[in-house]
Amino acid sequence: MSDNLTISSGEDTFDLAITDGTIKATDLKQVATSDGPLATYDPGFMNTAACKSSITYIDGDAGILEYRGYPIEQLAEQATHLEVAYLLLNGELPNAEELAGWEREVNTHRFVHENVAQIVESFRYDAHPMAKLMAGVASMQTFYPSARQIEDPESQRRNIVRLIGKMPTLAAWSYRHSIGRHRVYPNDELGYVDNFLAMLFQSQQRVYRPDPRVSRAMEVLFILHADHEQNCSTTAVRTVASAGNDVYTSAGAGVGALFGPAHGGANEAVLKMLREIGSVDRIGEFIDGVKNGKAKLMGFGHRVYKNYDPRARVIKKATDEVFEVTGRNPLLDIAVELERIALEDEYFVKRRLYPNVDFYSGLIYEALKFPPEMFTVLFAVPRTAGWCAQWLEGVTDAEQKIMRPKQVYTGHRERAVVPIDQR
Ligand code: ACO
Repeated sequence: MSDNLTISSGEDTFDLAITDGTIKATDLKQVATSDGPLATYDPGFMNTAACKSSITYIDGDAGILEYRGYPIEQLAEQATHLEVAYLLLNGELPNAEELAGWEREVNTHRFVHENVAQIVESFRYDAHPMAKLMAGVASMQTFYPSARQIEDPESQRRNIVRLIGKMPTLAAWSYRHSIGRHRVYPNDELGYVDNFLAMLFQSQQRVYRPDPRVSRAMEVLFILHADHEQNCSTTAVRTVASAGNDVYTSAGAGVGALFGPAHGGANEAVLKMLREIGSVDRIGEFIDGVKNGKAKLMGFGHRVYKNYDPRARVIKKATDEVFEVTGRNPLLDIAVELERIALEDEYFVKRRLYPNVDFYSGLIYEALKFPPEMFTVLFAVPRTAGWCAQWLEGVTDAEQKIMRPKQVYTGHRERAVVPIDQR
């Protein structure tokens, strides 16, 4: 395999070095064209690496997802979300003592300034909880102004811990405000996930103790959603960070990107689809509609995975465990049969369309009585660990420049302004 790419242009040839399977886009500038130096056109960054990263590895053809080299299946089986957050940030799994220290540190930062609560609660009752979360996260920079010292390792660390600690509190309070319930404060006796569930569901009369199977299923969902390399929201975080921004301002942008239905909202669409199908005997008719371009099979297909999304396998198992507690949702029968038929159908096989992470996650959230608008919030809470790790990697990368893509200009060139009375 060549380590160079040779480009000919007219009489000239140029040798471009290939490193890590990439060429440097700026090396193309030496090739002159009638429109100026050669550049690439890549809307959506379909084939452009904008950073180097050692956090998350994905092989979409083989269906592999690893955090810092550890397969997602093993982490989901053996770790907790805070262990995974430590791994993403520090590069190694913690030992028992390190984990205890990390949990103590994060858990003591779960309380949120009362004025942030007022920001969240100043929204109309029917404001989307993601919009409230976005405002709450972005506002935190004003409460911790030292976060702006992004080159100070102590400030980086302290504010990452604060954000990971406070995110579940902000998310839960955004939800409670939507349903007109008082906010529940963090409980020191509960771990990260159980405390989040308690802040969401506890009523005044009793102490909320989640069923351990529900709690473990949420922990697994958190682990599966903790990072996914350079997806849309992580790219938003890194882009905002590249201008010299603190972790709160950058994560606020991440929440905004995740809010989009093309990114964080597909599991809601899966539920809607399953309800529309309504019963197992109508699946054939629905699949025919998909093949005729009338609908999409939501929760199937992925830009990167051209094989079974490894997270979907783990979620399917968690679904069974949650339904043992909550009772079986009849929509699950439709989902399982839909998956079986689609995986055998030539249309899906030929296009390499497999279930993705969203195919089953909405069913779990619904079984746990979350309203659909909370689904994306449940994605944002664990993804905060990934955003923080990616933010840190970006701001400490000496090669990182302010993100500022080129454009292909297609508008008018210089022309004279006509006075307004002559237009
Ligand atoms: N149902 C039916 N056909 C599909 C589906 C689907 N879900 N997904 C892709 N296809 C077809 C396309 O129509 C296309 O067919 P063609 O070659 O005959 O034109 C072919 O498969 C290739 O699809 P593309 O749209 O080119 O694939 P792309 O990588 O751009 O899209 C995407 C990926 C957006 C995820 C797509 O598969 C989709 O819309 N899936 C449903 C929505 C969904 O589940 N999104 C969640 C993704 S996971 C996440 O973001 C956390």
